[in-house]
Amino acid sequence: MEQVRQTNLTFVLMYVIALFMFFTFKSTNGIEETLNIVSFGANPNGESDSKNAILTAWTSACSSTTPTTIYVPIGRFLVGGSVVFKGRCNNKGITVRIDGTLVATSNYGVIGNEGSWLLFDDVDGVSIIGGILDGQGTSLWDCKRSSKSCPTGATNLRFSNSNNIVMNGVTSLNSQMFHIVIDRCNNVKVQGVKVTAAGNSPNTDGIHVQLSSSVTILNSNIETGDDCISIGSGTTNLWIESIACGPGHGISIGSLAKEFQELGVENVTVKTIKFIGTENGVRIKSWGRPSNGFARNIIFQHATMVNVQNPIVIDQNYCPNQKDCPGQASGVKISNIIYQDIHGTSATKVALKLNCSPTNPCTGISLEDVMLTYENKNAEALCNHAGGVTYGVVQPNNCF
Ligand SMILES: *[C@@H]1O[C@H](CO)[C@@H](O)[C@H](O)[C@H]1NC(C)=O
Repeated sequence: MEQVRQTNLTFVLMYVIALFMFFTFKSTNGIEETLNIVSFGANPNGESDSKNAILTAWTSACSSTTPTTIYVPIGRFLVGGSVVFKGRCNNKGITVRIDGTLVATSNYGVIGNEGSWLLFDDVDGVSIIGGILDGQGTSLWDCKRSSKSCPTGATNLRFSNSNNIVMNGVTSLNSQMFHIVIDRCNNVKVQGVKVTAAGNSPNTDGIHVQLSSSVTILNSNIETGDDCISIGSGTTNLWIESIACGPGHGISIGSLAKEFQELGVENVTVKTIKFIGTENGVRIKSWGRPSNGFARNIIFQHATMVNVQNPIVIDQNYCPNQKDCPGQASGVKISNIIYQDIHGTSATKVALKLNCSPTNPCTGISLEDVMLTYENKNAEALCNHAGGVTYGVVQPNNCF
């Protein structure tokens, strides 16, 4: 009897130890799974639609608890429609590693009203590494330029309602509309991204962030037709550093006061940016209408302007094309905005324009070591309802 019990105990103990070792081995050695989309039926010939193959790989990765890499090898993979990579997943570590190109259909009608081409929704712990995302948007741009009844267009790559996201070394090419959108996300790291679209392509913002917190955008190169980076309401704790912008419309907070009830923009750092031939440099814009929104605690630091039309702008009477302008005073409160070490050349005489709201004047504007010239001469400043201070050499210097 004693003998039997001891044997049982030894057996149970060994079993427990084996289980323990299995899980230890598994976690410390990082057993991972790789799903090559070709083995799910994807075809690198650029013509057969690989959408379902990619979706099947996603479904498999999403339902697994093992860290999984979805691998897109070299080649052109047509993704012929909108794809939603939907959470929630059991998996908290999915990497999409792309050595090749994902290409959208050039028939813009297919995804033009879908909002996005590649959408990750409600996911946690997803990284996209490398790859070219070719939205083939040129035919939609042509439509928009020539007639009025065109689809809005799709964003190449969108993350919504997601946490702990990485985009590293991704190239976005010729998106129909915005290239990359980060919407209702927390903790997003964007690094080494390259955005390319024609300087006259409509609405092709490079990276748009809204309703999101703790987003960093580093070491990226953005050549496009609209804003380089646009920052919508509800963005907090955003860090943007080492970006080259141009062509395009520059880095923009806003447009704000789209709605009366609107979340503010807070704690934004924009540093070490080179603007080359852009329409604007650093801009804050709001429509001229009542709103409870705000923009505060924002620093623009170490910017170089090369032939930029409007290097520094606050425009609280924003109304592109001067069509259907609300024509009221903006309710958006703009405060604690620092411009530090901003230098270079303006393509127009007015290099610094602070056009604030008469009912909500800008407060706490700080101009520190700002040096902007126009045709080798001093540029000018135009300021309304803006209060602040200057430090060091500031040129133009007739604002406060
Ligand atoms: C903005 O930064 C300040 C100072 O670091 C911090 O106290 C505040 O909580 C931040 N705001 C948000 C919305 O995170």
